[in-house]
Amino acid sequence: MDNTSQIEYWNGPAGRKWVRDADRMDVMLSPFVDVIISPVLPGPGQAVIDIGCGAGALSLNVAASAVNVSVTGVDVSAPLIELAKQRSAAVGAGIEFVVADAAVWRPAQPVDLVISRFGVMFFADPVAAFANIRAGVKPKGRLRFACWRPLAENTWALAPLQAAMHLLNTPPAPPQPGTPGPFAFGAADYVTRILTESGWSNISITPWDGDLVLPGASAEDTAEFMLEMGPLSRAITEQGIDPDVVKGAVVARLKELAGEDGRTRLKAAAWIVEAEA
Ligand SMILES: C[S@@+](CC[C@H](N)C(=O)[O-])C[C@H]1O[C@@H](n2cnc3c(N)ncnc32)[C@H](O)[C@@H]1O
Repeated sequence: MDNTSQIEYWNGPAGRKWVRDADRMDVMLSPFVDVIISPVLPGPGQAVIDIGCGAGALSLNVAASAVNVSVTGVDVSAPLIELAKQRSAAVGAGIEFVVADAAVWRPAQPVDLVISRFGVMFFADPVAAFANIRAGVKPKGRLRFACWRPLAENTWALAPLQAAMHLLNTPPAPPQPGTPGPFAFGAADYVTRILTESGWSNISITPWDGDLVLPGASAEDTAEFMLEMGPLSRAITEQGIDPDVVKGAVVARLKELAGEDGRTRLKAAAWIVEAEA
């Protein structure tokens, strides 16, 4: 099993959308930065890998928060890694960014810590991938990442999809645990099994619940973002539906959900996963 379809996906139109929306996405996902890195902040001389680093927000935050730490960001998406390199150069962060499949890539020297913000749910063979990641970590080194709980618990992604459902050709199949994608790690016992079978120990899986502020100063802005990101975007792309056909229904729903300031805050549910090599 290889990751060809995900590599094509993240290097195609989806990768370009993520580049375009990187700043807005980073604001939306900013609550997860401290949650992931603060409890495991590396000390001087230590080395960190950020898996599925995308445009590099988590890598940049570690580099800025820790002293004399070597940070490497790994991602299959060439356009996102290009943006990550530009961001690192702009602040002189000295981070190494690599275009590579984390399921098979290894660092030159074993590292102390592996982190990820929603970048580890896309492996075709997750046990093999996490075994490979563990092989690049020192004994007793740490793994800490965030992944989404099921779509049904993530209103930020579900509400726009439900609003447009009657305009889709067919309702999209619910995400299946184990099928690579953002909600593949929704079941905690599945995550425990993958990490155990790939040799990780002292596994802890903690729920994170909170509200995410969706990008956009108005329902129209927010709808445009949600038509580019998440399960609604995937559904209309796969079904060849013009985003303008569904936009009105999404705007109407977001107006119902928006606060008095016009911003939309919706429930998000994630797992914060930690393990030891
Ligand atoms: C949901 S995005 C998260 C990006 C980034 N961590 C963030 O928080 O903005 C998932 C990322 O995982 C990357 N990815 C998917 N499969 C991968 C693989 N096998 N190896 C490395 N990166 C992968 C994608 O290219 C994408 O950038």
